[in-house]
Amino acid sequence: MRFFSVFDIVKNKANQLGYTETEMYAVLKNYNVNKKDLLAYKENGVIPTDKVLNGILSYLGMTKVELELKLGRIPAGLEDVFLNNTKEIAKILENKNSVKLNEFNSIQEIKPYFYTDLGKLYNGDCLELFKQVPDENVDTIFADPPFNLDKEYDEGVTDKNSFSGYLDWYYKWIDECIRVLKPGGSLFIYNIPKWNTYLSEYLNRKLNFRNWITVDMKFGLPIQNRLYPANYSLLYYVKGDKPKTFNVQRIPLQTCPHCGREIKDYGGYKNKMNPKGVTLSDVWSDIYPVRHSSSKNRKFNELSVKLLDRIITMSTNEGDVVLDPFGGSGM
Ligand SMILES: C[S@@+](CC[C@H](N)C(=O)[O-])C[C@H]1O[C@@H](n2cnc3c(N)ncnc32)[C@H](O)[C@@H]1O
Repeated sequence: MRFFSVFDIVKNKANQLGYTETEMYAVLKNYNVNKKDLLAYKENGVIPTDKVLNGILSYLGMTKVELELKLGRIPAGLEDVFLNNTKEIAKILENKNSVKLNEFNSIQEIKPYFYTDLGKLYNGDCLELFKQVPDENVDTIFADPPFNLDKEYDEGVTDKNSFSGYLDWYYKWIDECIRVLKPGGSLFIYNIPKWNTYLSEYLNRKLNFRNWITVDMKFGLPIQNRLYPANYSLLYYVKGDKPKTFNVQRIPLQTCPHCGREIKDYGGYKNKMNPKGVTLSDVWSDIYPVRHSSSKNRKFNELSVKLLDRIITMSTNEGDVVLDPFGGSGM
């Protein structure tokens, strides 16, 4: 398993030694690391400050360089050493890489739960379902995964994972998305900004960045001692250098809800503007949560049809294949 936080490396060692979490904290005290110090590194991939770091390294029996490698990074200042030894490093990695990807022949086909002439709906774990999707087969993927916020989902689905466990799982299905996308295909990932920062860093190595779309959502609850979170992030990437389909979207000129007059004067150039509206920007303020029970298809987390309508219209043409690994209500 790949590690994303120092906490998880420490926890993994405790598991190997057969400690419970309480015993682990007790042992760490001997290394001058208290529970609070360690928990501070549970939800991020930051390296601890020196005092805590020294204690953790002694407990792990590791050097700082090894710890950074376990976090999947080349330690700062050692990039040249790494680059000068890529032959040897590749040899070690290639020997270990015995897992064969995309073995379709041995896969038992899963049948759709429901289908029409327009599409198929499957009920299952997307990682299992991905196995039956051939390489480079899909034009657009939209994913609205669980956000790891301990929300209630269907039976057997958990939304409470460790920091590392969540990202580890995330990268697995993202790799599948990349595999099944056609060249020029589009990938949209909807999540809270925190997770999309990690994802963006990962995707930048594999796909072409188009936009970080901010979906303005001022309907949540304020959180103590933090800025009031009022947006979701929608990452937009393409496979290859440019999208095979990009249909320009326009939105109506903004008007005052009270008097109906236009809010902006467009610098006096309004008469030169396209009558169909202004070009859509990367800040979307016209997507509203699905709140009213009469229009809801599920209890929680249902997305507005408008969001999907826009994504699909923008990135596909009629007859294209769209895949949503976390369908929920189908939005
Ligand atoms: C954030 S919700 C998506 C909601 C959806 N966009 C909608 O509008 O209804 C995430 C959905 O993914 C489902 N889910 C969680 N883990 C999954 C997995 N491994 N494979 C497939 N679906 C999963 C959950 O049950 C939930 O329905």
